[in-house]
Amino acid sequence: MATNNFSLFLTSQMTLITLIFTLLSSSSLASSSSPPFTKVYAFGDSYTDTGNTRTSTGPTAFNYVSNPPYGITFFHHPTNRYSDGRIVIDFVAEALSLPYLPPYRNPKADWSHGVNFAVGGATAIRHGFFLKNNVTFNLVPQSLQTQLVWFNKVLASKGCKDLKSTPRECEAVLGDALIWVGEIGANDYTCSLGSSIPSRTIQALAINSVDGFLQALLNKGAKYIVVQGLPPTGCVTYSFALSSPDDRDPTGCVASVNRITSSHNAALITKLNLLRKQNPQAVIAYADYYNAHLTLFKDAKKHGFQEQYKACCGYGGGEYNFDVFNPCGSPSSRACRDPSEYINWDGAHFTEAVHKVIANSFVNGSFCSPRFQYLINKKLVSG
Ligand SMILES: *[C@@H]1O[C@H](CO)[C@@H](O)[C@H](O)[C@H]1NC(C)=O
Ligand SMILES: *[C@@H]1O[C@H](CO)[C@@H](O)[C@H](O)[C@H]1NC(C)=O
Repeated sequence: MATNNFSLFLTSQMTLITLIFTLLSSSSLASSSSPPFTKVYAFGDSYTDTGNTRTSTGPTAFNYVSNPPYGITFFHHPTNRYSDGRIVIDFVAEALSLPYLPPYRNPKADWSHGVNFAVGGATAIRHGFFLKNNVTFNLVPQSLQTQLVWFNKVLASKGCKDLKSTPRECEAVLGDALIWVGEIGANDYTCSLGSSIPSRTIQALAINSVDGFLQALLNKGAKYIVVQGLPPTGCVTYSFALSSPDDRDPTGCVASVNRITSSHNAALITKLNLLRKQNPQAVIAYADYYNAHLTLFKDAKKHGFQEQYKACCGYGGGEYNFDVFNPCGSPSSRACRDPSEYINWDGAHFTEAVHKVIANSFVNGSFCSPRFQYLINKKLVSG
C-alpha cells in the first residue's frame, strides 16, 4: 500500500511539474497571442543604432558603415548597423513579436511600433563639453540629450507634454511602451583618451546625464524601462590594440579599461536603485551587459567562437586585424569567411552571433535584474 500511495504521490507531483512547465512555456514571449508591448523606444550609441548614422555622419574611426561587408550576414546588404547582421535590439524586437525598430532619422519610417533614437558615436555627456575641452576625435554632435529632444518631438506629436499636464495622452503613448536604454557612455571614455580630462570626471558627468535623462522619461510617464550597463570595453579588439601587453587582467582583457568600465557600472547601479525608490510606479531593470559579455568571452569556445581577439573585418592581420586608418568597409579591408566564429566584427563592435547570445542572456537569462520576464508579467497584470 505504501508503495502504491508513494507512486500515486509521485504521479501527482509529476503532473504538477508538467503543469508548471506547460504554464511556463505557454507564457514564453514569442508564443503569447498578443505581444505584451505594442512599441519600443530605444536609445544609445552604435551598439543599438539601427540606421541613424551612416558613413558621412558617423564616428571617423568607423566611417564605412554604409559599405559592404557591413550587413552581410542577415540582411545581406548594409543597413547602417555597426555589425555584420542583427544587433541586440533586433533580437529584443523579435522576442516581443514586433517589427525591427526603424531609425528616427528615416523620414519614411513607420513609428507605430516604436522608434530607435540610438546614434553611432553618441555620448552620454553633451557635445559642448568635449568641444570646450578640445576633444574632437571620433566625436559626433549627437548626445543622449539630442535623443531626448527627438523623443520629446515624437511625444509632442501625440499630445504628450508631461504626465502632470497631459496624463491621458502620455499614458496612451507610454503605457504600453518598453523603453530600452542601450549602452551609453563608452564613447565618452574613448573619445577623451589622451586628453587631460580624468576618467572620474567623465564618470560623474556621464552618470549625471543618464540620471537626468531617465528622470525626464519617468516624468513623461515611462513605466517599463531596461537600462543596459557598459560592456567590458577592456575585452574589445581596439582596447587590446591600443594598450600595453602588460595591462591585462586574469581574463586576458585590458585591466585599466575594465576598471573604469566596472566602476561606471557600479555608479549606474547606485543611481538606478535610487530611481526605483523614487518611482515605485515604474519597473526599472538593469541589463548587466558587462557580465553577460564577460561570461561569453570566458566561454567563447562553448558558444562556437574560435576567435576572441582579432576583428573579423579589418586590415593588417596580425593579432588583432585592426587599423584605425583602414577600418572595416574601406577599400583595403578584408573580412573573415565566417563572422559567427568571431566575437569581434570591426574592431569596436560585435558580430551578430554575439548580439544573439547577449540578447538571449538579457531576455531569457539571468543578466537582467529584475528579470525581463518579471517586467513582462508586470505589464500583463496591469493590462
Ligand atoms: C583648447 O585649444 C585652444 C586653442 O588651441 C586653447 O586656447 C585652449 O586653452 C584649449 N583648451 C583646453 C581646455 O585645453
Ligand atoms: C528566448 O528563448 C526562446 C525559447 O528558447 C527562443 O526562441 C528565443 O529566441 C530566445 N530569445 C532571445 C532574445 O534569444
